[in-house]
Amino acid sequence: MKAIRISKTGGPDVLEWTDVDLPPPAPGEARVRHTAVGVNFIDIYHRTGLYKVPLPAILGSEAAGVVDTVGAGVTAVKPGDRVAYFGNNAYAEANNVPAARLVRLPAEISDEVAAAAMLKGMTAQYLLKRTYPVKKGQTILWHAAAGGVGLIACQWARHLGVHVIGTVGAESKMALARKHGAGHVLSTHDPHWPGKVRELTGGEGVPVVYDSVGKATWEGSLDCLAIRGMMVSFGNASGPVPDISPGVLSAKGSLYLTRPSLFHYTRTAEELQQTADDLFDVIRSGAVKIEIHQRFRLSDAAKAHEALQSRATTGATILLP
Ligand SMILES: NC(=O)c1ccc[n+]([C@@H]2O[C@H](COP(=O)([O-])OP(=O)(O)OC[C@H]3O[C@@H](n4cnc5c(N)ncnc54)[C@H](OP(=O)(O)O)[C@@H]3O)[C@@H](O)[C@H]2O)c1
Repeated sequence: MKAIRISKTGGPDVLEWTDVDLPPPAPGEARVRHTAVGVNFIDIYHRTGLYKVPLPAILGSEAAGVVDTVGAGVTAVKPGDRVAYFGNNAYAEANNVPAARLVRLPAEISDEVAAAAMLKGMTAQYLLKRTYPVKKGQTILWHAAAGGVGLIACQWARHLGVHVIGTVGAESKMALARKHGAGHVLSTHDPHWPGKVRELTGGEGVPVVYDSVGKATWEGSLDCLAIRGMMVSFGNASGPVPDISPGVLSAKGSLYLTRPSLFHYTRTAEELQQTADDLFDVIRSGAVKIEIHQRFRLSDAAKAHEALQSRATTGATILLP
């Protein structure tokens, strides 16, 4: 089969469209023929080496498709089932995936929507409902509000009765974030954005900041938090956040800090299924619309990476095998 592989870390040019042998699925695995593959910022961290992966590596963290063969002992899925997953080696025409990590797709969820939403949508789910369970009437701050995770999270938060202050880079993304649930949108190019968050909250600050931008927004995010607020640092699109001393959290108001990962919120088959079911419910009800704004051929994954890392995308990006 064909896959996008890297044999060294670097820019988008290290992505190679290459022939790879896929062995039959091992016991407990199912082979999934991909119909759509999601693009995620974590794929860029893997490519650049910010997050280490053993090389050579097939990139990719999310895909949807059809089961074509199952390994010994697999009963949860069968050939012909439509499934999706988040996990490794997704930038490929097919993949052997532990059957326990596959989620069967309801008829109303298309393959493209599943490929765009499994990782990003389940992330919005655990962040809003489990890392810091938001409450109706609260005002929260969500960075990169027009991005893949961002557009889903803004809609979901609105659905939960939460007022979202969103940030974006380019002014051109503001209307999109607003349309998808951010009641106020600020540009992080305006150095006064933290003060504006304070103004919008009557000087109090927000009870929670969801920050996936990292280095560039770290300080400002801490300055937006209310006393005993929660800093949810869940990504580093602008670079990793600097080391901090716990004393900073005290000085800025007895703040809480967490650095969560989707993997730890979907550890068991039950957690994975419940998170996926919750996501499918908000998509089916129309509360959350999955916006796929960029589609590329799988062989053109490098173009997708260039677009995502240069902040030129909005919503989700998928690759088509
Ligand atoms: N911890 C977890 O469980 C988890 C799971 C999924 C995703 N994530 C994180 O969530 C974030 C969003 O992921 P995504 O795939 O949906 O990506 P995305 O939000 O579609 O793209 C990243 C966005 O970050 C913003 N950004 C700010 N500074 C940037 C810079 N210097 N370079 C590049 N982008 C910059 C850009 O939006 P503006 O131009 O509008 O600022 C850009 O569009 C990523 O940080 C990802 O690692 C974490």
